[in-house]
Formats: sequence, structure tokens, C-alpha cells
Amino acid sequence: MDPVSPAWRGRRVVLGVSGGIAAYKAVELCRQMVDAGAHVAPVLTEDATRFIGALTFSALASEPAQTQLFTGATGDGSEHPIPHTRLGQSADVVVVAPATARLIAKYAAGLSDDLLTATLLATRAPVVLAPAMHTEMWEHPAVQENLTTLRRRGVHVVEPESGRLAGGDIGAGRLAAPEAILGAVLEVLTHGLDLAGVRVLVTAGGTREAIDPVRFIGNRSSGKMGHAVAERASARGAAVTLVTAAAAGLADSFAAGPVEVVPVVSAQEMHDAVLSRFDATDVVVMAAAVADFRPKVAALDKLKKADGAPEIVLEPTPDILAELGTVKRGQVLVGFAAETENVAVHAADKLARKNTDLLVANDVSDPQAGFEVDTNRAILLDSSGASEETPLLTKAALADVILDRVAALLGREPVNPHQEMR
Ligand code: CTP
Repeated sequence: MDPVSPAWRGRRVVLGVSGGIAAYKAVELCRQMVDAGAHVAPVLTEDATRFIGALTFSALASEPAQTQLFTGATGDGSEHPIPHTRLGQSADVVVVAPATARLIAKYAAGLSDDLLTATLLATRAPVVLAPAMHTEMWEHPAVQENLTTLRRRGVHVVEPESGRLAGGDIGAGRLAAPEAILGAVLEVLTHGLDLAGVRVLVTAGGTREAIDPVRFIGNRSSGKMGHAVAERASARGAAVTLVTAAAAGLADSFAAGPVEVVPVVSAQEMHDAVLSRFDATDVVVMAAAVADFRPKVAALDKLKKADGAPEIVLEPTPDILAELGTVKRGQVLVGFAAETENVAVHAADKLARKNTDLLVANDVSDPQAGFEVDTNRAILLDSSGASEETPLLTKAALADVILDRVAALLGREPVNPHQEMR
């Protein structure tokens, strides 16, 4: 967690605690958020109080811990008859740590038979769930399907870790580390879920065009920029599909997460994967380095040296972005332009030629902004002719700048982390 982030100050956090052995770890979360300046209101389920006393939270939090649906303290000393509506309506974020299988099931089903589940239904604030349970329960399809449902509704899930569990077993299901949970909460406080419900398709990596079964024409794109856009869009609530030609392994971080990963190899495969999904997409970010040409014929058998230097005849690949530009019906199109000279001029030409809404151009001859590195510096051009040059940023930070522009094009409200205390 960034302890000095102003995003914590005065923000109202409902800290839900459900009944699992990890409930004691929520005390530390409570303390750290209060120290960072947040107003923390703890809500414990009955079962949570079997593991940890409400008094412990009351002593550390900004207002007394609450456990009952029908009577509660308001924080100003008076009683509030229906605390779940007050808590839900005034929250900037609701975080539940640990979230048990039962809590997850009730929330997914819309059941509200205690103060915590009622608060979850009575809030429009973003919700962060940090599940913790035994491995068998965590892997049970019922739990996973409930989480899929909740993710689809925009709930953030901080995946549990693998490690020692209650009773000495070892496996997946241990509550995520406090930094991971606090990082996710800070995330929603700074960005909110401004892309919730938006369907974003991102392409990444460099396509490979087969010469024969073992050789290909490729390029130096690592896929890191596209993967960063997919990761950030997902963190901001979008439903993300990542069509990636990047080396296997880069997408591993998305395994079991909410991002749908579609691996492809060639420009043609990427074209087909993107076009078949385009109607069900709101935003396409074409970060991939798509080969412009491919061998007209790919040899079926490996070419042998003894046969002499092959003559490889090339033909153009489909220009995916240009095709999207001609068939789009309200979708926001973001293109990339990797240039080595006259960046702004070439980029402006591409923006118009491919009918894109936003073009992200970078000078790949710059060692800090090119392939394989984790940083990037870009010029953003939009169809109104406006341009903005970014400083040197991490690819994740540049992804956020791009997504801020996408959110604005979609008419989404930016989330102001410095909003006044309520
Ligand atoms: N692109 C695409 N399909 C292709 C080639 C490129 O969709 N066959 C997309 C890229 O993903 C990128 C944008 O078009 O978002 C610009 O790519 P670039 O290769 O720079 O554009 P070209 O039109 O190929 O221009 P150049 O003449 O510089 O090669």
C-alpha cells in the first residue's frame, strides 16, 4: 500500500468481515486504512465474532464495529434504525476480507439476511472481495461460478494465495496479503470502476507469419503494452478479451482471472478472432504489431538448406484496424503507431487513414520507449486533431492514460480521488 496516497484521506470504507480463521487478519487491514486517513466502519457477521471480538475493531476503527441488521450506532453516538442503508449509501468502497464461501454465495444470490449482506446490496460503491477458505472449497465449481457472476457485475476479487491453511493443510485459499488487498482498495478509490460493463478487446504481441513449419517472419514486439492495457482495463471494471500473439507465458498472469485470453499466431488468425467478436465489443485497442506481409505460400515441410536459398514471395495481410474503421458502429477504436521518424506526421496520417478515434504513437528508436522495455513515452492523437505528449511512463501508467481517454470518449465520469469528505 502507498501509505501517503491522498486517495485514502477521508474516504469511507466499510470493512466487512465474515466468519473464517483469517478474520483476525482484517484487524491489520483496519489499522492500516485508519492510519492512512480513511474512515473505516467495520461490519462483522455473527460467525466472524466467533473468531474475533467486535471490540477489537471498535478500538481501532473510526466508528464502533457493527454486527446487527436492526440496531446500530451512527458514528456520532446515536443509534440508526437501519444501519445497512446508511453504511451502504455513504461508502466509497466496501471491502470484505475474509470473504467466506457462504458470504460469496449469499452475495451472488442477492440474499440479505444480516448486516453485511444487506450493506452489500444497499451500496452503489465499488466492492472488493478477498476470499479465504480451504482449497477444496475454493476450487469448488459453486464458489468459482458465484465469483464469475460477481465479477461480471463489476465486483473486484483479490485472489487468495497458496500457503498454509487452518489445520496445517497447504494449498490455494489463504487470504491475500494485506498489501494486495489494500492495493486493490486503493485502486478502486483512485480509478473507481469507470469502465464497469464496458467490453474491451485488446490485441497484443507480434504476429508470426509461417515460412515453413519451423520458420516464420516476425517482429520485435513483446506484447507488454497490450497486456498492460488488458490488465488495467480489467482492473477498472471492463470485461476484457485479450487476443494475443505474444510469447506463451506472458499471459500466465491472467490465468483463472477475469480476462479472456485468446492466443493467436498469424495476422489472419488475429483478424478472424477480432472480427468475429467486434459486434459484441465497445472498445478495441489494437496494440499488436501485426505483420503487414506474409509469405504467399507456407511450405508444408521444412525447407532444406541443400535446396538453396528460398525465394519467398510476400503478399499483404489484412489490415485489421483499417477494416474495423470501415465497419465500426459506434465502437471506440484505438490504434498504435510504432515509428522511427516523423512520429507525429505518420501518426496523424494513420489516424485518418484507419478511421480511428485515438492513436497512440511512439518512437521505437527511443531505447526507453520501444520493444521489450517496461516504459513508454507516447503522443496521443484524437480525431479532433488534438495531441498530447506523455512523459516517460511505465507501460501500466500509459495504459491508464489511454484508458482515461477511452473513458472520456465513452462519456464515463472520471473518479476524483480528492473529492471532499462527506
Ligand atoms: N494494424 C492492423 N493490421 C495490420 C497492420 C497494422 O490492425 N495488418 C494496426 C496495428 O495494430 C496498429 C496500427 O494498425 O494499431 C498501425 O500499425 P502500423 O504497422 O504502424 O501501420 P501501417 O498501416 O502498417 O503503417 P506503416 O506504413 O508504418 O507500416
